[in-house]
Amino acid sequence: MTAASNTATAGASRRARPVIAIDGPAGAGKSTMAAHLARRFGFLNLETGAMYRALALKAIEHDLGFEDEPALLELAEETRIALQPQLEGNIVLLDGVDVSRRVRDKDVTSAASQVSVHPRLREWMVAQQRKMGEAGGVVMEGRDIGTVVFPDAEVKIFLDAAPEVRGNRRYRQVMPGDAPAEAAVIEAAIIEDLKERDARDRNREDSPLRPAEDAVILDSTGLTLDEVLARAEAIVRSHIEQPA
Ligand code: DC
Repeated sequence: MTAASNTATAGASRRARPVIAIDGPAGAGKSTMAAHLARRFGFLNLETGAMYRALALKAIEHDLGFEDEPALLELAEETRIALQPQLEGNIVLLDGVDVSRRVRDKDVTSAASQVSVHPRLREWMVAQQRKMGEAGGVVMEGRDIGTVVFPDAEVKIFLDAAPEVRGNRRYRQVMPGDAPAEAAVIEAAIIEDLKERDARDRNREDSPLRPAEDAVILDSTGLTLDEVLARAEAIVRSHIEQPA
């Protein structure tokens, strides 16, 4: 078990209800954690990655190059992306159309990672995300929530796990039941894909994926899901129970 922690954030006090920022690499279990904390504390869970995915889907539909920042920004400015928090995850509306399933497809996943490197596009996303969360009472999940979107978030958790562990969990989600003969090949491809996205997310110039200095780092490599959720809950509870 490798669960290191440092202090939870003091955060700003102007919000009546807190912002809980959850960041970390792909496949670490951020969405499961966000949904759990939102249910437990009566907050909204907002999956910011779904916004990058929705815009990437529109770029695919318009046949835009993922490296063409001006065109992507123009596209974004004429796009409405809405997240509707549910008990499990978000419904994603792209210009009013439910694209929740489509945005999880492989081509959109890869496109989202490429589209999200562009600084001006990120500014557009961040401005919307701040509006969505400014009143507090939200668990917001992404890559830059604790560092850029809400550097004053009351609680910041950076959820990590070894790529092999994240890949294996992902594999078991997409291939439940008996393992097919080519199981090892499929799992290896998923791990490679995660590593590629990790590298892009961590090495991009603007808002690279990294823990905020005041984030609690939770490494779930050797932990069960229940253990991870219990730790996250304890972190949030310790903030809520702090005397004002
Ligand atoms: O969390 P996710 O896998 O749905 O995110 C999709 C992509 O969007 C991912 O490659 C990284 C990017 N992303 C980001 O750059 N900043 C965020 N706050 C959320 C996601």
